[in-house]
Amino acid sequence: MKQKILVTRMLPEPAIEMLKKYFEVEINPEDTIMPRKKLLKSIVDKDGLLCLLTDNIDKKVFALGKKLRIVANYAVGYNNIDIEEATRRKIPVTNTPGVLTETTADLAFALLMCVSRRIVEADNFLRKGKFVGWAPMLFLGNDIYGKTLGIVGFGRIGQAVAQRAKGFNMRILYYDLNRAKPEIEEKYSAKYTELEVLLKEADFVTLHVPLTKETYHLIGKKQLNLMKPTAYLINTSRGPVVDEKALVKALKEKKIAGCALDVFEKEPKVEPELIRMKNTVLVPHIGSATIETRTKMALMAAESIISVLIKNEKPKNIVNPEIYS
Ligand code: NAP
Ligand code: GLV
Ligand code: GLV
Repeated sequence: MKQKILVTRMLPEPAIEMLKKYFEVEINPEDTIMPRKKLLKSIVDKDGLLCLLTDNIDKKVFALGKKLRIVANYAVGYNNIDIEEATRRKIPVTNTPGVLTETTADLAFALLMCVSRRIVEADNFLRKGKFVGWAPMLFLGNDIYGKTLGIVGFGRIGQAVAQRAKGFNMRILYYDLNRAKPEIEEKYSAKYTELEVLLKEADFVTLHVPLTKETYHLIGKKQLNLMKPTAYLINTSRGPVVDEKALVKALKEKKIAGCALDVFEKEPKVEPELIRMKNTVLVPHIGSATIETRTKMALMAAESIISVLIKNEKPKNIVNPEIYS
């Protein structure tokens, strides 16, 4: 008899086909987040779970999923999963690092350019029929070339953003828990600074840390006040890394020039005041949203499940490897 797995939402077809070769696959039939009740009911007889960053995989899910032997998250961030509980139960949790790095860095840089050159505002203006001719003062933004970029979290995506910034001849500052190796700093011409220094000096601050207890509200009132009034904040990490209420206040009081956000503190809710402002660019968590990357992520998650349930192997992208020691 085939082992059973739950996929909480429809994913790119190649991964589903791969899974169906080995398993009895239950897929959420609706193209919505799987209702909590349904998740709790469906998990009971499953050997594996392929879930999304919008699924809250907490103690209750683990308690009901008595047969669970793997949780594969369809994302690189895994703050939606109670890792401690998974580890306590010796259940491997996997994520999808690497395959979405360049795609997410592309979006971060696109957001940076959009907010600085007022592209969304200008596009809206034109669509409303307001373009009556070239004008010297129309939609003046800020230069990007040669400016200072502050990267908070210099991991895979942070470094991929640095690579893009190099092409724009930007001065690159970074802050991270751990200082990068000298060869990495040299490769990207990136200089390590304390967070305070980075915030004071950067024309653009871009966030690439995971959401953890330590990074919750890493950027709040105090940090926003340190930024230049001409600087922009870009967030493609996780919403709660920024205190959204403090951000609204900083924008209103012109402590910073603008922001571009892919992630929000209470996703999918967005502070209404952010929506009313013109110097904000807001997109619905599309960092990794390209056909190629989403397919790679799905295959990676499917392979992790096959590793554990079929091959009895330690999966490649495990986030709690200590369960095997
Ligand atoms: P990564 O390679 O692990 O990079 C994260 C970096 O942040 C690491 O260098 C890490 O340091 C550092 N860090 C962790 N805690 C920190 C702290 N308290 N203060 C300063 N630095 C800290 O991860 P990644 O692949 O670049 O992804 C980063 C995050 O982006 C993910 O966790 C996810 O939440 C988010 N993401 C969002 C999207 C989207 O659609 N918007 C797409 C992909 C990823 P150590 O490694 O030394 O701990
Ligand atoms: C997306 O947000 C991810 O963490 O992969
Ligand atoms: C602008 O279009 C220019 O030619 O300077």
